[in-house]
Amino acid sequence: MAIKMKKLYEGKAKIIYSKSASQVVASYKDDATAFNNLKKGSIKNKGIINNTISSYLFDVLNHCKIPTHFIKKIDKKSQLLKKVDIVPIEVLVRNYFAGSLSKKFGVKEGTKLPDTLIEYCLKSDELGDPHISTDHILNLGLCDLDHLELIEEYSLRINDILTGIFYSIGINLIDFKIEFGLTKKTKELILADEISPDTCRLWDLKTNKKLDKDRFRRDLGNVEDAYIEVMERLNLKI
Ligand code: TMP
Repeated sequence: MAIKMKKLYEGKAKIIYSKSASQVVASYKDDATAFNNLKKGSIKNKGIINNTISSYLFDVLNHCKIPTHFIKKIDKKSQLLKKVDIVPIEVLVRNYFAGSLSKKFGVKEGTKLPDTLIEYCLKSDELGDPHISTDHILNLGLCDLDHLELIEEYSLRINDILTGIFYSIGINLIDFKIEFGLTKKTKELILADEISPDTCRLWDLKTNKKLDKDRFRRDLGNVEDAYIEVMERLNLKI
């Protein structure tokens, strides 16, 4: 980035810089955390790889008429985005039991869910992102009913689109996490944050090999290779 921009926010995986009143630049980092910051590390080239993968997927979603914050990829590590106020909830979309859902109900990871399951967490590092219900969301005023209905509708459509993309490259989309935001002036609800192996569970269709951040969370090794494999199967180059 040639021009010095004001840093607005530094998260666990990205730094957000101010570009104008309505635009920001997100710079992807190699840092990796898990279990609400308890485990810290870094994944070589993660910033470049996730920026490439997320830029591609958001571009597809834009073309599929899902409104998103993504404007364009600027360079290896950064993207130009519409500025939003993030809705403080994490939306978890699940096609199979895995992770915290498997733990909660004692069901083997990889068991297919009869229907797509949407769960919500409050975005709060201090509170450890607790799971919340739609009644919590409305009662606490985290977002209004119209927007919550839209979040559910978009989440299911995004799931359909992503499931198809990954299936076509021999990957099963087990689950993923997305976030939404409201644009500054018009308060339009749009998809924000990122979609990458950091935020999805991606298993090889034939072998069930994990190609996502669980390799980091669970010390399975070859984390960078798995991220690169997802990028290359998507036919993307850095
Ligand atoms: P979970 O099984 O740990 O609840 O995670 C569900 C999905 O959401 C999985 O693909 C990982 C992703 N995720 C994030 O991207 N960030 C988070 O902070 C959490 C808890 C999950």
